[in-house]
Formats: sequence, structure tokens, C-alpha cells
Amino acid sequence: MKLLLTSLVGLENYVLEELRGFGLRGKVLRKGRILVKSKKTPLLNYASRTVERVIELIAVEEVHSLREIVQVVQSIDWDQYIPLDHSFAVRTERIGKHDFRSIDVEREAGGAIVDWFLERYGRRPPVNLENPWVVVRVDVDGDTLFVGLDSTGERALHRRGWRVYHHPAALNATLASAMLMESRWEGVLLDPMAGGGTIPIEAELGRRHVPHFFFRDFAFERWGKYNVWRWRLRLRKKIRWIADDIYGADLFWKHVRGCGENVRSAGARRVSCLRWDATRLEELPFTPKYVVTNPPYGLRIARPEVVYELYREFARSAKAAGVERIVLITTKWKKMLESLEGAGFSAEVKGEILYGKLPVKLIVAEV
Ligand SMILES: C[S@@+](CC[C@H](N)C(=O)[O-])C[C@H]1O[C@@H](n2cnc3c(N)ncnc32)[C@H](O)[C@@H]1O
Repeated sequence: MKLLLTSLVGLENYVLEELRGFGLRGKVLRKGRILVKSKKTPLLNYASRTVERVIELIAVEEVHSLREIVQVVQSIDWDQYIPLDHSFAVRTERIGKHDFRSIDVEREAGGAIVDWFLERYGRRPPVNLENPWVVVRVDVDGDTLFVGLDSTGERALHRRGWRVYHHPAALNATLASAMLMESRWEGVLLDPMAGGGTIPIEAELGRRHVPHFFFRDFAFERWGKYNVWRWRLRLRKKIRWIADDIYGADLFWKHVRGCGENVRSAGARRVSCLRWDATRLEELPFTPKYVVTNPPYGLRIARPEVVYELYREFARSAKAAGVERIVLITTKWKKMLESLEGAGFSAEVKGEILYGKLPVKLIVAEV
């Protein structure tokens, strides 16, 4: 079976690395789309940390119009995928320029599936846009049409399910995991601008191999096609304990409390949330060898000059505190590189990630 994995644009190589860890070989088809031959839908949903969705592919075709999309949908044997008495919905992601909209694709493809059943059985599965049993993905990327079943469900995998405190600028958990992979951290890890604690929590759960099923459900679990409990048991046995110390700090008590709430919800016992200033890291009572962080970019709240001053002082104090490796993302990458180099780190841009509509650079700094 062919699985189409989606990710944030720029994280494809991290997905490939994760797949290698599962003994699988993936191939990047497009930006944010990775193809892998595997029957391990449950494993990829439960355990991958950089993937957004796991889609069981039905068809990949070149198309140039809405009519051609409908023709492809009509040619599929839907019996195999949607039980007559179960509801479905079509969801579309469209990338590129077309003379139709995503909702046109959803409406026409949905109609084609309904007609397919009516022609054969005189009956049809109900459409349920709120809580469908089967989510059919009909994605159009340029001239390529991807049709498949979304095994992940309505909520993408970055929605881990443990978040109870919602920081206004909470980081996408798959991006947090990719940054952690890039850091190769061990021992003492600090996120000095942790907000609601996404990076520290991902660090612990990832390192301990805690699967996502403790916190949320998945579409494939309802299909009846997989032995869910066997997979769960198998992955439970892989959970391990760690002795590393992980810290999440923030300047504001509100976020520190929120971080604590998220940590409790995630059961991340190695994570401590503390109130600290990221410009005074040399005064910490411990030496954080590894720093992974998502600082403010100055887009919404602070003025750019305030953010530049923060970057300079953060870099200076990180060097003084004995930090050896820093991984971070920012839109203000030139200022950040300047600050890190100025403090005595050797820093470089390791990649660009499309975060929503915002291109951010991933920076790695070392002493
Ligand atoms: C982009 S947010 C981090 C969001 C976080 N990654 C999450 O997922 O919730 C940046 C955080 O840096 C914090 N911050 C700003 N200046 C700081 C400083 N001098 N020291 C510590 N934290 C600071 C802000 O309060 C904010 O919570």
C-alpha cells in the first residue's frame, strides 16, 4: 500500500529521517508530500513526530480541469473504501493556480462519489461534514491530483491532544520535534522562551517514545481494518524512562503556569517550567548545554528594536552560561545570526520552513 505523508514545507528531510528509524524508505514527491510504501498506518499515526497526516493513497493522476478530477473520482471502486451505511466527507487542499476553488473540488468530488453509489445500489452513504466516518482527501497540487483516505482524521498530527493551555503563539509540535532532532540534545535541555512548553514537552515525549494515542483518537481506529490493540500494546512496550533534565522558561508567570498545566496534561515528568529571563541565562543554577527555542519575532506585540535587543542579550547570556548548541527558528534571521556570531557562536541557516504563510529560517549555532 502506498501512503502519502504530509508535513510542513521544509520538514521533508526530518520525515525521511524518522521513516528510516521505523525501517521505512520514503521519497519526497512534492514540497510537504512524502510517499512511502508501507502497511503501517497505525505506527505512522501513533509514533511519527514530524508528520501532519497519513493518507492511504488510492490514485495519483495528472489533471488539468475540474472535469478531469471528477472523472478520476468516478473511476475509483468506492465499495472498497466507504461502507454504504457510514458517512463520509471530501476534504481538499489546493496548491497552485487553478480556475476552480477547493470547495468546488469538495462539492464535485463528493457528488461524484454519491452518484457512483446511487448508480450501483440505488442507495448512498450519507455526507457528514461535521463528523464523518471516512474522510476522503482529494488534494490538487499543481497538475497532480492525489486521492486517498485520511487515516489521521480531522485533526492533523501536530494537534497532539495534551495541550490544555493555549499560548497565543504556540508552536506547531511537528516543527518543535524537527528542531529537537536537529539539536541532537542530551543531558540538560532548555527552552528559555518556552511559552506553553511545546518544545520541552515534545522533547520528553519524543525521547521516551510516548505514542500519541494516550492523548487523542485517529480516523483509522474506527475503520475496523487494523488491530489497534496489538499496535497499542507493541508501542506501549517501547516507552522508556529517561534521566535527562528538561527546562522550559518564560518571562511571564501566565505562560509559566500554562507550561505547568501542559506538562501535567502530557505527563512529562522530566520537564520543569520556571520563570526566568532569557537575557540572564548565566545566572541559572544549572548549565544548559543544549538550547532549542522559538523566540518572539516582533510581528505582533513587541517592536523590532526590542526584539533585536532581546536576541543580542539572549545570545550573549547563552554563551556566558556555557550553552554549546542552539537550534531556533525566526523570521528575523539576519539579526539573529548577527547576535549569535557577535556572542562568539558559529551560526548558520540550516533550512527554511513555511510555517502557515510565514517563511521562517531554522538556525543552528555552536561554540
Ligand atoms: C513565540 S513565543 C513561544 C511559544 C512556545 N514555543 C509555545 O509553543 O508555546 C515566545 C515566548 O518568549 C517569551 N519571552 C519574551 N521575552 C522573553 C525573555 N526576555 N525571557 C524569557 N521569555 C521571554 C514570551 O513571553 C513568549 O511566551
